[in-house]
Amino acid sequence: MADEFDLPKGELMKGKKGLIMGLADSHSIAFGIAQQMAAQGAELAITYMESNERRAKPLAESVGGLPIACDVSDDASMDAAFAQVEKSLGTLDFMVHAIAMANREQLMGSFVENTTRDGFHFALDISVYSFVDATRRAAKLMPNGGSIMTLTYLGAERPMPNYNMMGVAKAALESAVRSAARDLGPEKIRVNAISAGAIRTLSLAGISGGRQMHAKSAALSALRENTAVESVAGCALWLASDLGRSATGEIVHVDAGIHMMGPPEELL
Ligand SMILES: NC(=O)c1ccc[n+]([C@@H]2O[C@H](COP(=O)([O-])OP(=O)(O)OC[C@H]3O[C@@H](n4cnc5c(N)ncnc54)[C@H](O)[C@@H]3O)[C@@H](O)[C@H]2O)c1
Repeated sequence: MADEFDLPKGELMKGKKGLIMGLADSHSIAFGIAQQMAAQGAELAITYMESNERRAKPLAESVGGLPIACDVSDDASMDAAFAQVEKSLGTLDFMVHAIAMANREQLMGSFVENTTRDGFHFALDISVYSFVDATRRAAKLMPNGGSIMTLTYLGAERPMPNYNMMGVAKAALESAVRSAARDLGPEKIRVNAISAGAIRTLSLAGISGGRQMHAKSAALSALRENTAVESVAGCALWLASDLGRSATGEIVHVDAGIHMMGPPEELL
């Protein structure tokens, strides 16, 4: 199990306004990040899919956030959500995109056999285009610069069992981060991604064998532990605050060191 810990409370984000997209339930990485941002004084708007409203809305409110329903596949829904952000917060200092989705058949077995045209388009639309779209909209609300970040996974760099289509989507997402960082740098808007280790969320449960992958990941990591959502939130805090002011176009691994490990000893 991950060693859970509390990041210290403080005023690192006092006076900063942020939008966090992708809250589903209390296990969501978006919620872990929202809790830490709020504990450091940030003022938040938090989006969720309408189908998750019963759980997500009270969670957003529990950290003092403005809850906003938003479906990233629907332009009208994005228009309405960002209009509400602008009306309520005026400007933004940071935006966190924590959204991904692929059809279940795209996340099992043979990547070559199981990847379909529709499945390919769907995964790229929800997991990558939504980031570009949200970035464009958020940047317009950042007249004084800001910080934008998304969540990625090691499957972008290495073929992982069953991660299949989502690995392709995450590779595209990481490339999009660099292109956006280049575009928005002159406006003092930084764009980064956190490559998180496996965390038990609804998204992980959607990957065939996801729970087994999570169970084994501590043993495969350098630190011999799972990734705590609090440490992903700690990285988000660094990226969103002035502490991270020279970091852009970066993919920061927060995964207990699993990304740089060679094969386990018993295979050598
Ligand atoms: N859990 C992990 O092990 C892990 C590891 C690395 C990266 N990530 C990434 O972290 C991000 C957050 O995932 P999570 O693990 O917190 O799981 P999660 O299921 O809690 O969050 C995913 C969110 O995406 C939202 N979403 C899906 N389709 C949407 C749509 N059309 N419109 C709006 N929102 C939509 C879901 O409603 C949900 O809130 C994802 O990008 C995921 O790939 C997760």
